[in-house]
Amino acid sequence: MSWISERRLVAAISNGGGFGVLACGSMSPGLLREEIRATQELTVKPFGVNLITLHPDLDALIDVCGEMQVGHIVLAGGLPSAASIKRAKDTGAKVVCFAPAVVLARKLLRSGVDALVIEGAEAGGHVGPVATSVLAQEILPVVEQVPVFVAGGIGRGEAIVSYLEMGASGCQLGTRFVCADECIAHPNFKQAFIRAAARDALPSVQVDPQFPVIPVRALANNATRRFILFQMEVISRFKSGEIDQKDAQLEIEHFWAGALKRAVIDGDVENGSLMAGQSVGMVTRQQPTADILQELLSQALAALADRHGPVPVQV
Ligand SMILES: Cc1cc2nc3c(=O)[nH]c(=O)nc-3n(C[C@H](O)[C@H](O)[C@H](O)COP(=O)(O)O)c2cc1C
Repeated sequence: MSWISERRLVAAISNGGGFGVLACGSMSPGLLREEIRATQELTVKPFGVNLITLHPDLDALIDVCGEMQVGHIVLAGGLPSAASIKRAKDTGAKVVCFAPAVVLARKLLRSGVDALVIEGAEAGGHVGPVATSVLAQEILPVVEQVPVFVAGGIGRGEAIVSYLEMGASGCQLGTRFVCADECIAHPNFKQAFIRAAARDALPSVQVDPQFPVIPVRALANNATRRFILFQMEVISRFKSGEIDQKDAQLEIEHFWAGALKRAVIDGDVENGSLMAGQSVGMVTRQQPTADILQELLSQALAALADRHGPVPVQV
């Protein structure tokens, strides 16, 4: 989670028995190196690094992961090229990619990925159109070659157990960790999560199919409402011949530039982007990361005990 999954939260998750993933977002290679180093100082446990494939310095970022001996590289934000996957694998890291459909999962397997994440439309941030439960039924039974992790809309341990029973190797949670003590998000951002219900986390609205909008799930606020009016205004300037289609599309795309940072870091929850998944309704208070992990584990163990009797836990 860009701006959120930084050294403190990542180290707290890995130290608490989870697997933290550092979000590179728009960081430069130099900043990423510093962030990896700082995280390694806070935990000796393994953690991964999430790189956005559209980043203009993707190759250099992959090389930084290699230099810093990162064990797992997650390539996100679009289908990575075979060359990027190879470059990441050549660092010695395990490479994890997002598979939004069976055909793409097969393509990624041919490119040599070591694991897949299937992320459904319930997730926070950039989302596809298909629900987690449907992706899980379509992809888990047919991908046996590599571990598959399920993400999107997961807020409790019982749900984790169900996906494990369907064949997942694990689950990826984002929204549930935003209100962790160790998360650096602004108190206003955390308050918005605590107040929100599942129905407040909505995908961005596209006004005209001629001007595509990449869907992002976020809490409804002033900015999400203004975005609709802004698109209508830009499209009417295009229709009157004031601007061409390319410029209109760019203006629409630039609307959200810097918006996540504005909300997460500056605490401007009305004009920033409050990316959140539908599991936000299960976020009811701020608590230590270790307690969140323990809660998820206890719920999972109780679900397993219901099915099979008490489960011995090895720590
Ligand atoms: C605020 C926010 C920022 C995110 N940023 C990223 C990102 O930079 N890269 C990425 O691969 N996923 C990103 N995600 C998605 C998460 O990694 C994760 O897959 C998702 O949160 C899982 O669904 P959940 O929110 O229902 O738990 C983001 C999610 C949120 C809520």
